[in-house]
Amino acid sequence: MAAGRLLDGKAIAAAVRAEVRAGVDELVAQGHRAPNLAVVLVGNDPASASYVRGKMRASAAAGIEGETFKFDRDLSEADLLDLVARLNEDSSIDGILVQLPLPPHLDASRVIERLSPDKDVDGLHVINTGRLWTGRDGFLPCTPAGILEMLRRSNIETRMRRAVIIGRSNLVGKPLSGLLMRKGTDATVTVCHSRTRDLAAICHEADILIAAIGRAHFVTATMVKTGAAVIDVGINRIDDPTRDRGYRLVGDVDFKAVREKADWITPVPGGVGPMTIAMLLSNTLKAAKRLISG
Ligand code: GUN
Repeated sequence: MAAGRLLDGKAIAAAVRAEVRAGVDELVAQGHRAPNLAVVLVGNDPASASYVRGKMRASAAAGIEGETFKFDRDLSEADLLDLVARLNEDSSIDGILVQLPLPPHLDASRVIERLSPDKDVDGLHVINTGRLWTGRDGFLPCTPAGILEMLRRSNIETRMRRAVIIGRSNLVGKPLSGLLMRKGTDATVTVCHSRTRDLAAICHEADILIAAIGRAHFVTATMVKTGAAVIDVGINRIDDPTRDRGYRLVGDVDFKAVREKADWITPVPGGVGPMTIAMLLSNTLKAAKRLISG
């Protein structure tokens, strides 16, 4: 049987980023300053630091100004909230992103609730969550928005299809379920999690299967219906002594075996990750335009 086609997140993200770049150039040509993104990074988690560098590089390539506010892991919550208040007030900043996870003594939801919803380019503030669930315009969380964009640009039908999401996080599973069931997208959505009974059988019903559970190779071929589109959100480090760095990155899906059954599949890396960054840039441009138009 032919292997499933790759959903090339890198290539699709490049197209989105080129569109953002064109939008930024247009703003600047109209005499406005370039959009400006503030990224807050607390602690020295190497994966987070690497994601933030990726976001900054992509911003620069799209003509977006960026500044990273880096702090040691012992930053107090009061100091972090002060910084957020200053960034909210600063009219030269359009978007603010607080990289997650935060160290355990910092309450991520309390910090995110202090962001101005109109600068919350990560789409995680409860106001933006509420806008998503009530069909109003707001900032959509970047990974779910990126998945939708990838499906749309690959002409993968969602209307009247059955979508199964594995994972119920605030960052991915929950908002993605809302987006997939929206009018116009019209998927029928099931959200599974670590305590779901008959998980494999439910996954096997999926026309579109999204794995966002954070466990390496959790989705095996027997869980996948022939012809499904499989979206792998996982980025897991597994030991690999053959690599200099001692590990490699794998998704939540057993890629090789599942590819034999799926019609479409995202690689890891190079699938959902680049889309997350592209949607962040798109949200930052949107934030800049909103501030200009008042
Ligand atoms: N950590 C992992 N993914 C994300 C994301 O999309 N946004 C933020 N802020 N932190 C993350």
